[in-house]
Amino acid sequence: MAGKFTSSTQAIPDVGKVPRHIAIIMDGNGRWAKKRLMPRVAGHKRGVETVRAMVKACIARGVEYLTLFAFSSENWRRPVEEVSFLMNLFVSALQGEIGKLHANGVRLKVVGDLSAFEPRLVALIREGEAKTANNFRLTLTIAANYGGRWDILQAVNQLALAHPEKVGCFGEADLAPHLMMAYAPEPDLFIRTGGEQRISNFLLWQLAYSELHFTDTLWPDFDETALDAAIASYRRRERRFGRTSEQLVEPPLAVPPAPTSGAPVTNSDA
Ligand code: IPE
Ligand code: IPE
Ligand code: MG
Repeated sequence: MAGKFTSSTQAIPDVGKVPRHIAIIMDGNGRWAKKRLMPRVAGHKRGVETVRAMVKACIARGVEYLTLFAFSSENWRRPVEEVSFLMNLFVSALQGEIGKLHANGVRLKVVGDLSAFEPRLVALIREGEAKTANNFRLTLTIAANYGGRWDILQAVNQLALAHPEKVGCFGEADLAPHLMMAYAPEPDLFIRTGGEQRISNFLLWQLAYSELHFTDTLWPDFDETALDAAIASYRRRERRFGRTSEQLVEPPLAVPPAPTSGAPVTNSDA
C-alpha cells in the first residue's frame, strides 16, 4: 500500500527549495538563563517566545509542517520542580496561544505518550487539536513526552494487534501509517539549537534522509535570521537519497545544442 507521502527509502521524494517540513530540537534554554544568572526555567519561558516567532516565520516562508521537540521521554529525569514548571508552561502556552494559532490557520498536533500527563493538560491538547483540525496553512506539531523508540514500538504493537496473521511479513509501508506522524511527510530539514550534535531520541524513523543542521545558537536567541541561515544551508545540500551525483543531472533537452564546454545543469540548488 502506497502511503500519502513518499517514503525516502521506498522512492525518491520531491525536493523543493523551501523545506516542506522542518523539525527542531529546541535546546539551550537552561544555558541561556544561566548566562544571565537567571533560574533555568526563565529560559523555558523565554523559549515560548521563540516558538511564536518561528510559527510566524515558517508561515511567511511557505513551510507546511513545523515540528518542535518540547519534552522528551527522558526529560522526566530532570528535577521535579523543573518538570512541573514545564508542564504548567505547556498548559499556559496552550491556553494563551490556541486562539491565535487558529486565527492564523495553524493546525495543532501533539505527539507523544500523553497518558503520563495530567487530565487537564490532555483535555487542553485535545480541545486545541479539535478546534484547529481543519486548518491547512501550517501544521504545528509539538512532541511532548515523545521518544523515537517509543513511537516505533507503539506502531509495531498496533500493527501486530491489527494483523496477527501477518506477523513476520510486515513491510515498511505496513508500519508507517501507525507512526505518530503519519499525517506528515518526513522532515526535509532537522535543526538542533544549543550546540549539541545528537538526535536525543527524537524522530528516529522519520529522520532517515533529513538534512541535519546544528547551530550553537541557544533556543531563546534563535530568530528569523538563524532560521534563514539553516534554510540557506539546506538549499546548498545535494539530496541524493542513495544515488550518485551524476544521476541528479537533468536529461538533455530534446534537441541538444552543438556541444560546447560548460558545466552540466543539475537539479540541485543553483
Ligand atoms: C531545552 O532546553 C528544553 C527542554 C529540554 C525542555 P534545555 O532545558 O535542555 O536547556 P540546556 O540544554 O540545559 O541549556
Ligand atoms: C532534547 O534536549 C529534548 C528536547 C529539546 C525536548 P535535551 O537537553 O533533553 O537533550 P540531551 O539530554 O542534552 O541529549
Ligand atoms: Mg538541553
